[in-house]
Amino acid sequence: MSSSQGSPAPVKRETFSTRRLFILSAIGSAVGLGNIWRFPYIAYENGGGAFLIPYLVALLTAGIPLLFLDYAVGHKFRGSAPLAYRRLHRAAEPLGWWQVLVCFVIAAYYAVIIAWSLMYMIFSFTEAWGDDAEGFFFGNFLAVAEAPGLGFDYVPSVFFPLLLTWVAVIIIMVAGIRKGISRANSILLPLLMVMFLLLVVQSLFLPGAALGLNAFFTPDWAALGNASVWAAAYGHIFFSLSVGYGIMVTYSSYLKRRTDLTGSGMVVAFSNSGFEILAGIGVFAALGFMAQAAGAGVDDVVTGGIGLAFIAFPTIVSQAPFGAVMGVLFFGSLVFAGITSLISVLEVIVSAVQDKLGWARVRTSVLVSVLVAAVSLALFPTATGLYLLDTSDAFVNSFGITLGALVTVVVLAWFLRRLPLLADHLNRTSTIKMRRIWIALVAVVVPAALIYMVANEFISKIGEPYSGYPDWFLAVFGWGMAAALVVLALALTFIPWSSRSKLNDDPEYDALVAEEAKEAAP
Ligand code: ALA
Repeated sequence: MSSSQGSPAPVKRETFSTRRLFILSAIGSAVGLGNIWRFPYIAYENGGGAFLIPYLVALLTAGIPLLFLDYAVGHKFRGSAPLAYRRLHRAAEPLGWWQVLVCFVIAAYYAVIIAWSLMYMIFSFTEAWGDDAEGFFFGNFLAVAEAPGLGFDYVPSVFFPLLLTWVAVIIIMVAGIRKGISRANSILLPLLMVMFLLLVVQSLFLPGAALGLNAFFTPDWAALGNASVWAAAYGHIFFSLSVGYGIMVTYSSYLKRRTDLTGSGMVVAFSNSGFEILAGIGVFAALGFMAQAAGAGVDDVVTGGIGLAFIAFPTIVSQAPFGAVMGVLFFGSLVFAGITSLISVLEVIVSAVQDKLGWARVRTSVLVSVLVAAVSLALFPTATGLYLLDTSDAFVNSFGITLGALVTVVVLAWFLRRLPLLADHLNRTSTIKMRRIWIALVAVVVPAALIYMVANEFISKIGEPYSGYPDWFLAVFGWGMAAALVVLALALTFIPWSSRSKLNDDPEYDALVAEEAKEAAP
């Protein structure tokens, strides 16, 4: 198809058919593994009930302002992360690629946890772990090698569910925004909510639940004087809200021109936090039961992440009345929450490649998803996969998401000075209007919090080897991977853009913007 000037016509961007579907998909992205297994533990470790204060402050001063920033960039410049940043300023394109590469790493290991959860959903029926959930997880199920390394001894019980996960996800991605992502979210998210609510109710009726809730909510006010507690709150909110790594830039680029951006953002942010607090209640009620059954204190059984999901929860499932139901609800929730987040992470990559090369949706989504799936299947379902997963997760969070978000806000706010322009864009179509306060938060509070966190991460990871892993392993899969993100982000910038993706220095881009402005007119 050619335009009248003879140059190829710009790609017509797909849109979410309604704002409701966008909000649903954004909540689907935000509510993920982080909400269920990370938040309860982080909250407990950092002051219990008192943590809600730094958490709310971090949400209001950094999470929501950054969410609005992502929305403004994606919606104003209507492109995948690299294209949107390229349209914002030529020099900003690598920021978008950095985010795309972060998503590549996250997608590759995130799918593995979904695959484990899928298997544990099935294991719940027979309580396959017997009376040794820990030995079963590391030994029988993952067959974890003695030491970190790069081995190719595949573990079929992880490989096949992982393959199945990727097939399901590829089908959703190929179907596109309306038929794939919107539809998957509108089915999976309500299912997740119902299942999770049932799980919370079941947990609350377990003996000892009150013990757990007491431990979770009892405030340790002294924690508020501790800078690391505040850093934990800020650190958690970025990953949890899916901000700073391209997802919300990408999703908002599929929004119609006239959309209430800030109003939608508020709904997404508070739904995500509401779910997180609900998860805290469900998880701690169950841990209270576990502690009471073991005649121990909640402090002795509390854990987060892999330990919570694959060791503590199976133990609870074995002891609780109707344990199998509880197992299916818990692991099913992890699967659904995981898939709706994974598709958003993948969409960042798919839409970037589609814009850069001007390819069709089906071709791009198949090629991109198969490439990520191949890396995921090659590296993680092996005896050393757990070490790789743990290291990639730790380093991509610290030096991909956090450092990436820091560089992005500093470049946008201080070097390119684009915040007033973006504030105007937000205010044009939104119900909640703000300018000065938002600019101050994004330009000052967010970078200050991020600098503190990045510095902390550097100090702790340089101070002692992460998790005691060998230096060479961390040099390759931790530091090496993080450095590769930056180098590759710069390199990808040099690949020429398809002429179908009109850049800001192309006169046709102005025509495109004028046409869209007409669409946006009341
Ligand atoms: N925001 C998603 C989560 O919390 C990625 O897991």
